[in-house]
Amino acid sequence: MTDPHSYARPAEARVTDVALDLRADFTRKVFEGSATLTLHVAGDAREVVLDTRGLEIQRVADAKGAALTYAFGPDDPILGRALTIALPADRKTVVVRYRTTPEAEALQWLSPAQTAGGAHPYLFSQGQAILTRTWIPTQDSPAVRQTYRARIVVPSALRAVMSAEALTPDGTPIEGGRAFEFTLEQPVPPYLIAIAIGHIAFKAVGPRSGVYAEPSVVDRAASEFVDLEKMIEAAEALGGPYRWGRYDVLVLPPSFPFGGMENPRVTFATPTILAGDRSLTSLIAHELAHSWSGNLVTNATWRDFWLNEGFTTYFENRIMEQLYGVPRARMLEVLGRRELANELASLEDKPGDQILHIDLTGRNPDDGVTSIAYDKGAAFVRMIEATAGRERFDPWLRGYFDRHAFTSLTTAEFLEDLRANLIAGDAPLEQTLQLDEWLEKPGLPANATAPTSDAFTVVERQVTRFTGGTPASSLETKAWTTQEWQHFLASLPATLSETQLLDLDHAFGFSKSGNSEVLCAWLRIGIRHRYHPAMPALERFLTSQGRRKFLKPLYEDLMATDWGKAEAKHIYAVARPTYHAVSTTTLDPIVGR
Ligand code: BES
Ligand code: ZN
Repeated sequence: MTDPHSYARPAEARVTDVALDLRADFTRKVFEGSATLTLHVAGDAREVVLDTRGLEIQRVADAKGAALTYAFGPDDPILGRALTIALPADRKTVVVRYRTTPEAEALQWLSPAQTAGGAHPYLFSQGQAILTRTWIPTQDSPAVRQTYRARIVVPSALRAVMSAEALTPDGTPIEGGRAFEFTLEQPVPPYLIAIAIGHIAFKAVGPRSGVYAEPSVVDRAASEFVDLEKMIEAAEALGGPYRWGRYDVLVLPPSFPFGGMENPRVTFATPTILAGDRSLTSLIAHELAHSWSGNLVTNATWRDFWLNEGFTTYFENRIMEQLYGVPRARMLEVLGRRELANELASLEDKPGDQILHIDLTGRNPDDGVTSIAYDKGAAFVRMIEATAGRERFDPWLRGYFDRHAFTSLTTAEFLEDLRANLIAGDAPLEQTLQLDEWLEKPGLPANATAPTSDAFTVVERQVTRFTGGTPASSLETKAWTTQEWQHFLASLPATLSETQLLDLDHAFGFSKSGNSEVLCAWLRIGIRHRYHPAMPALERFLTSQGRRKFLKPLYEDLMATDWGKAEAKHIYAVARPTYHAVSTTTLDPIVGR
């Protein structure tokens, strides 16, 4: 198996450990220092190939400091440049002295104004899928697992947090700054090496969990995530022991481009899930689930991404079911299935992109980050569970994590395991599962289970009453949860009158909603109808947070209309400098620069 998104040839020479020694320069927006790589080398190999993108290499040396010769390959806009280094005499250690550039796509250097406190700058990294090579010269393939350690020097007032064990939680004062040391002894794919630096406080939540956030946010974050320990226990009941020591959540400034990122030991999360009522914590269940599906057992290439996200989306739902009951889990599952239906509709002309085992050769692996990997992947796992029954499926799943712990798997290897340990010669079961249909064909196979929610049936009845003329204030919506509101908004007819929109907004305060999911869904309805009262909220939402999942549909909706085009370009001109490169890379082709 070769990884089309890495230049490395790990069968010849493979990186097994990365030791970083870096200084964060907030004035120039660069890291500068060295990466010491430990190699495992095959007998006849003469060189080691690393992935880099936009790195300035200053010197490559052996463990004693003697220079090693090196050369760059051609520059590719997505993959970057191969860095080929002649092996040192000990065939074991190479030291790369280097500097990042301010354009490094993994890194976002925030000005103080982009933080909650407004007084200190902030930096965070986002490695997945192939961005780690923009700040660390290493073999950036998910099949090349590496342990890592780091010494990071930051300005005295700031704290560094990494996806590793903190050896000096408060840092050590040194001349001109503060040094933080970390180590991660479990081998991980390089996309999980992550860092954040800022004015960051910590608050414990459970015995092995807590939250990091800016001081003005940390209490809100701790109260939103009170259930962390219960969540870890629910996950352990399904996946086996949590193998990473601590589980903390770092709440980032609002420009964080994702909802969450499963960095080991510390999930990075958007502040847009701080709804105040714990209604969006399924996102934490999702990132926690990656501690098994993704971080313990990892997709070997980005073609196998569904192994990470499909399993995790399924696992997330099992955690939610165990913690909050079947009705809540079914609602979430129905919402996911709607996402999938919408995605399939939008990929109508691209059947190849509807395939779980999607061929991404020559493409940006980001192209595979769609509801297909997540929700079709989860539907596949759910179908296997439903067909085999939980009494067979659950022990298989637990065993799958144990058998492949700390390894990276291809789709073929997953299939091999499923056949050996779950199907085990049961020909009728093999036949019923339709594995090839699920993995290699577009669309949603006919044996998919159809999730249903009684709570949502109740919601639909209220939509019918509303469209039949009942005023919004007379609808029975008492004690509705966020999920019910999401379903309500999604079930409204495609066209509403201005009077109806005003009625809904007055009764339920959608334009003022502090719930990011509800607000985003409402704003999309607002754009579709050019509903003026929502426009200030729309502009505020687009300029106050940078989560790609919210930005992309809103800008797309705006760009689909004449009046909206001008509005989108105007807002984007102001907001673009505050967004992370992950978001602008997606948005530039939509809005235009
Ligand atoms: N690992 C992903 C985020 C990701 C995927 C980053 C691919 C870069 C490339 C993370 O676990 C995730 O899926 N986040 C979702 C939230 C989740 C609840 C669906 C997000 O950010 O929206
Ligand atoms: Zn995920």
